[in-house]
Amino acid sequence: MQPMQLLALLATGESLSGAGLAAQAGVTRAAIWKQIEVLRSRGVPIEARGVAGYRLPWPLQMLDVGQIRAALPAPVAHSLGALEVHWELDSTSSELQRRGNAAKDLSVILAETQSAGRGRRGREWLSPPGMNLYLSCLKRFEPGFAALSGLSLAIGVIVLRALGDLGIDGAGLKWPNDVLAVAGGQPAGKLAGILVELSGEYQGPCAAIIGIGLNLRMTPALHKQAGQPACDLAALTGDSPPDRNRVAAALIAALAGGLRQFEQEGFAGFVADYARYDLLRDRRLQLSGALGTFEGIGAGVDARGALLVRMADGHVRQIDSADVTVRRA
Ligand code: BTN
Repeated sequence: MQPMQLLALLATGESLSGAGLAAQAGVTRAAIWKQIEVLRSRGVPIEARGVAGYRLPWPLQMLDVGQIRAALPAPVAHSLGALEVHWELDSTSSELQRRGNAAKDLSVILAETQSAGRGRRGREWLSPPGMNLYLSCLKRFEPGFAALSGLSLAIGVIVLRALGDLGIDGAGLKWPNDVLAVAGGQPAGKLAGILVELSGEYQGPCAAIIGIGLNLRMTPALHKQAGQPACDLAALTGDSPPDRNRVAAALIAALAGGLRQFEQEGFAGFVADYARYDLLRDRRLQLSGALGTFEGIGAGVDARGALLVRMADGHVRQIDSADVTVRRA
């Protein structure tokens, strides 16, 4: 028995006894117990309820390539180079990197769990199975890196468009591309992380591997391990996040359309949408980076994706790279 099979049996959210699970799976109770422990060690909060047996605190949907494809508009489904769902990968982005030239444009790979999920700045991206989404998409661009400034910000806009298509609001963007929940008008926990990795030539063919981790259900343990405030779609939807396959399809459809738009218009085509979601605009910011530490007021982003910061003397600085903190007024 594999952990995936056990998770699929528990997916309804109902209690199932060890004996019942063993009978359904055709294995011993000891084998069930072993796989319960494997899933728990991966961060799945399986509850033990005495004689009633084991259960998940909420129902979940296992990722299913057929269901994702069926939820995609036909032209989007046809435009994909590949669409794959894996139980476990080290990292969906690493998998696309390994495929190299063999991977077709607009190839999409999802995994239920990642053993070495990667975040920005070498951080780990915790990836327990069954709860969140881990997706990477390969997009090839003819004109090279030179034309890709602002791509990672555009992906933030694309994620918010996908959430909008699912009827979910209450989220915005913290420059450059952190997707945050908004609580009481203030930026709150991180809802999604985006990692864009480029390879190829500065002025020739190149490829972007776009990795997105979107939180649907965060457990208390995951909140603790995240090392920063985090939020999930469950919190934004009164504890009923949409079906994971629907969320995956919405993300893929938004990526397919948005990446085509980026190819034609560059980031300039996203500036207006970015402004709608910009959580830093008109806020007191503290910035730190190569230029030292200073304060200013968020004044939007320019057509390259640089952060604009109005200084006390009215002068507007363009920031390409910095850590940004919002100062409470
Ligand atoms: C961040 O640190 O904010 C970026 C996190 C990106 C995580 C996603 S999950 C899918 C893809 N695979 C990875 O290993 N990382 C990205």
